[in-house]
Amino acid sequence: MILEKIYLHNFRNLKRVFLEPSPAINILIGDNGQGKTNLLESIYLLGTLSSHRTANDREMINWDKERAQVDVLLRKRDHSLKLTVTLEGSNKRVQINDTPLEKKSELIGNLNVVLFSPEDLNLVKGGPSYRRDFLDIEVSQVSRYYHHLLSEYRHVLRQRNFYLKELRDNFKKEYGVLEIWDEKLVELGSRIIEKRLEVVEKLQILARLNQRKITGGKENLSIEYECSLGELNPDIFSIFRKLLVNNRDEEVKRGYTLYGPHRDDLILKVNGMDIRKYGSQGQQRTTALALKLAELEFMKSESGEYPVLLLDDVFSELDQKRKDILLELIAGRIQTFITATDLNILGKLKHSDYKLFKVKQGFID
Ligand SMILES: Nc1ncnc2c1ncn2[C@@H]1O[C@H](COP(=O)(O)OP(=O)(O)OP(=O)(O)O)[C@@H](O)[C@H]1O
Ligand SMILES: [Mg+2]
Repeated sequence: MILEKIYLHNFRNLKRVFLEPSPAINILIGDNGQGKTNLLESIYLLGTLSSHRTANDREMINWDKERAQVDVLLRKRDHSLKLTVTLEGSNKRVQINDTPLEKKSELIGNLNVVLFSPEDLNLVKGGPSYRRDFLDIEVSQVSRYYHHLLSEYRHVLRQRNFYLKELRDNFKKEYGVLEIWDEKLVELGSRIIEKRLEVVEKLQILARLNQRKITGGKENLSIEYECSLGELNPDIFSIFRKLLVNNRDEEVKRGYTLYGPHRDDLILKVNGMDIRKYGSQGQQRTTALALKLAELEFMKSESGEYPVLLLDDVFSELDQKRKDILLELIAGRIQTFITATDLNILGKLKHSDYKLFKVKQGFID
């Protein structure tokens, strides 16, 4: 899929921006603090309906204004469409081809994006929530069903935790209402785990290939889904249910839900070694890149088209070999936006391979 036009209105410091990107590589060049990441953030917002750096939508509206808007013209394999997100106060409105969507989440799945930034090292080094988010954001973009499961699950989890605290604080042992929440939690949570297991199986093959390619065949990456339910046989639903029943007193004592996909993780191993704990910085970087590249291929295989790739400040951090592998993968196939502060990153890229945009104090040309 290709972004053909991008219009921004009062999005952070980008007050009025109009771009016609190249279908191949786009380089956004500029000093620190000029608005490069802001542009990537606006594209990410149209793909995922949220920012990658704030949970507060209001922050994306220019300080001096009440309202921000992002419009893009997106060309897919067999049709084109216009996507619009408007932020006003703490409200968000969404339109496709100028028709407002009643269910905003229906925007997700139209524009698929993969963002790679230096913080993605957290995918390997950081806590489990980074790896869960990685899976969830990626799968949500290609499966509306999964997105729906997740948001329902989060709602049920909040309610259930609230109720557990209430039982604890009032020294009650009446589990009737809790059982109703249990049933919903098991139903939704088990389906989430099922889908994640299926995805991890595919990702693992793709990421393993990437890791071997980057390291010249020296490193074998394995990815395993670590489930808080433990052993998943004979079936996830009954194991989950049993754990909740057997651990009622403990959950009430703690006041939150101890089992379920919100407690799960991915185990990443290179040549049998836990890379999260024992990997060198370089190995961890390689693994983060291998995972991100696997994400691109996974989304292509699920949706039939490559997503748009957003590379924020990563080019300067990659060595020549990794850069070459990345460029080889992108070249001619994936529309990419790369931010950088100087042109040294370009290396072997020929001028005909990319379109250059200069970003200065919120203006892009
Ligand atoms: N809501 C907002 N309204 C106006 N300006 C904003 C808003 N939010 C952030 N900014 C400004 O945007 C600028 C940051 O832009 P951005 O993060 O895109 O920089 P960048 O070009 O990616 O820089 P770097 O190279 O350091 O990553 C800051 O100068 C900040 O003051
Ligand atoms: Mg930046």
